[in-house]
Amino acid sequence: MAILKIARLGAPVLRQVAEPVVPDRLGDPDLQRLIDDMLETLEDSGGVGLAAPQVHRSSRLVVLGTEPGEPPRVMVNPELTWRTAQMVRSYEGCLSVPGLRGAVNRVASLTVQGLDRAGEPFSLDLEGFAAIAVQHEVDHLDGVLYLDRCDTRTLAFTEELARYGPLDPSFHRRQDPEDGPEPGAGEPSPEVADDGSPPHLLLGRGPGSEN
Ligand code: NI
Repeated sequence: MAILKIARLGAPVLRQVAEPVVPDRLGDPDLQRLIDDMLETLEDSGGVGLAAPQVHRSSRLVVLGTEPGEPPRVMVNPELTWRTAQMVRSYEGCLSVPGLRGAVNRVASLTVQGLDRAGEPFSLDLEGFAAIAVQHEVDHLDGVLYLDRCDTRTLAFTEELARYGPLDPSFHRRQDPEDGPEPGAGEPSPEVADDGSPPHLLLGRGPGSEN
C-alpha cells in the first residue's frame, strides 16, 4: 500500500471525464492495489471521500467514508438518481483545493448504484451529509469541482471561516450535532439555508435525468 500524490486545482486530470471501470478488470491486482492505495490515501488525508482523478487516475472509482466507525465504502462506476427536488446548502472543501471552503447547494436525498470492489452491485439510499459527499465525489468523475457549483461570495479560507463564521447571510447555523463537524473543522458539514427562498437547482440535473 502507498499514499498517493493528490492532484490539485490546475491538474488537467481533474477536468477530464473519467473512464468507466471495466467490471471484468476488478480482478486485476493493479486495480485492487489502486483501491487499497486510495483507501490509505483517504485515511492519511483525514478527508471524507476521494475520487480516482484526485490521485491522477482517470477512472470512475470513489472511496467514501461518511459513517463514523465504519470502513470507507468503495464505489465503482457510481450512478446517482435524485429522490427529491429539495436542496441542502452546506460548506464544502476539497483535498484538491486545500485550505478553502465554500457554500454549495446539493440535492438532499438520492440513490447511488454501482459495483463494490468485488464487482457486486449495490444500491444505497443516502441523505444528509452522505448524500452531499457522494455528489461531490461523483462530480470529480465528471471533471467538476465544487468551486464550479459554489456561490463564490461565500468562499473562505478554513481559518477565516472558523474565526468569522459563514459570510453567507442566508446561512443559519442550526446544525444537528449528528450531521458532522462545524465548518472549518476539516470536512464539509451540512447546513440548511432557511431564508425562505425556493430551492435552486444548481446542478443542472434533475430527477430521472442522465448523470
Ligand atoms: Ni473534492
